[in-house]
Amino acid sequence: MYKYTIISGPMKEVIDIHWLDEIDSTNDEASRRIGESGNLSVLAAERQTAGRGQRGNSWLSPAGENLTFSMVLKFGDGFFAPYEAGKQFDISVSVALGLVDYLENKGIEGSIKWPNDIYVRNRKICGVLIENVLSGEHLAHSVIGIGLNVNQKNFSPQLINPVSMTSLTNLEYDLKKELPLLCGHLRARLLKLGSTVQFNEYASKLFRFGQLNDYVICSTGKVIKAKIIGVKRSGLLRLETEKGEHMEFAFKEISFII
Ligand code: BTN
Repeated sequence: MYKYTIISGPMKEVIDIHWLDEIDSTNDEASRRIGESGNLSVLAAERQTAGRGQRGNSWLSPAGENLTFSMVLKFGDGFFAPYEAGKQFDISVSVALGLVDYLENKGIEGSIKWPNDIYVRNRKICGVLIENVLSGEHLAHSVIGIGLNVNQKNFSPQLINPVSMTSLTNLEYDLKKELPLLCGHLRARLLKLGSTVQFNEYASKLFRFGQLNDYVICSTGKVIKAKIIGVKRSGLLRLETEKGEHMEFAFKEISFII
C-alpha cells in the first residue's frame, strides 16, 4: 500500500488518495478506517476480492483495469455541518452529478439511472454504493463507493449492457491520473450538497426521463408501462403510468427493464 496527496481537480484542492494493491472491498476498508480518515479522503484498490454492489450483488472488476474506490464524507466536524438523515438523497445527487461532470470532461455524455448509476445511452458505465451511518436523526458519516469502468474491454456475458470509457473513446487511461480528476469533480459537487439548483440539474439528467418504458414492481413482480416524471427531494421516483396514474417508489421497490 502507498499513500500520496495530490493537488488536482477543478478546484485545485488537496485530495488525499490512498491506493491499496488488494482489499476485500474499499467500502468495508473505508468503514473500518473511518476514525483515522480525513473528510473527503479516498481509498482506492487495484483489486477487490469481495467488491459489493447494490441489492446484495457482487461487484466484479478485473485487477488494474477500472476505478474501484470509496470516498469518506464526515458530518458535523466543522467542514460539513450536521446533516439531517432525511436529506441523505442529497448525497446521491452530488455524487451522480460529479460523475457525469467528469465523464463530460472526457467527452462522454452520461445520464443518471435513478438513484445513482451512470449510463451512457443504454449501457452501464458506473455503479455507486453509498453507505450512511446515522447518529440519532443526523448523518454521522457516509462511505461513497464507486466502480467506474475505465479500461475494461471484455465483460462477463452475465452483465446487462456494460460499457467502459475505453470502449467508447478507444483511449487507454492512466487510473492514477484519472482518479484525482474524478475526485475533484465529486468534491466540487459535494461542496454544494443540498443545493436546489443541483437537485434540478440531477432531475434533468435522468436516464429515460419522460419516455414510456416497462418497470417491475418488486413486491409483486407486476410489470407496468410508465414514464419517469420526476424525483422528490426525499429521493422517491415519480412515475406516471400509461393510464395516467401517478405512483411513487423508493429504491428497491421498482426495477428498470433494460
Ligand atoms: C452497483 O451495484 O451498481 C454498485 C457498485 C459499487 C461498486 C463499488 S467498487 C468500490 C466500492 N467498494 C465496493 O465493495 N463497492 C463499491
